[in-house]
Amino acid sequence: MKQRGEKVALLTAYDYPFARIEDDAGMDIILVGDSLGMVVLGYETTIPVSMEEMLIHLKAVVRGVKRAMVIADMPFLSFQISTSDAVKNAGTFMKAGADGVKIEGGREFIGTIKRILDAGIPVMGHLGLTPQSVKKFGKYRIVGKTEGEKKKIIEDASLLQEAGVFSIILESVPPDIAKQLTNELTIPVYGIGAGAYCDGQILVIHDILGLYEEFQPKFVKRYADIGKEVKKAVSSYIKDVKEGKFPVK
Ligand code: KIV
Repeated sequence: MKQRGEKVALLTAYDYPFARIEDDAGMDIILVGDSLGMVVLGYETTIPVSMEEMLIHLKAVVRGVKRAMVIADMPFLSFQISTSDAVKNAGTFMKAGADGVKIEGGREFIGTIKRILDAGIPVMGHLGLTPQSVKKFGKYRIVGKTEGEKKKIIEDASLLQEAGVFSIILESVPPDIAKQLTNELTIPVYGIGAGAYCDGQILVIHDILGLYEEFQPKFVKRYADIGKEVKKAVSSYIKDVKEGKFPVK
């Protein structure tokens, strides 16, 4: 698709009904992201998300997908402690039906990523703002504004490509970095808050559907206001039950 200049559409999903809808609509890649922790499980960050939680949701998504590529996000501490843990956990996702795994980080994890690739598991990289390291960054912010950060992202992207990852997600990086990497790398570069020049775009489904009215990152486009609609429907149901209008006698 990169060679043809065809943009790739990626979106997160965490359960069977949304996986079915996305697959049916023609999504290219569905990511079972560890954003699961924040948008579905109510955690403040992605840090508490466990392998067990990811597996339940990955399996539900896999059951709903017939066509799209399904990528499972490796949660915090599933790949950072040891390479053998990382290969085992990535393999567990593959056994559950994933087509590949995503790993946050660059040079620090090249050895681990190579071992996962050696096991026959496709890996998607993730650079820029890597939410599992939010406490190190201090807050959710654009990464790559300083020369040092920019240099690191560019070097890490090359290292990841050399290692053999099949694509890289750039999160919250300045558009000029995304443009440079999209042009220079032979593998696809997908952006989230990284401007319009990438080979594809990824967003969190809850954000594009407006499920959290109070939360809307600047780079998100809201395609529906489902939160409001659901509240309206639920309120009507409550009213009907209280007033004896449902069920009809
Ligand atoms: O966890 C996630 O959903 C992600 C994407 C937003 C890139 O990592």
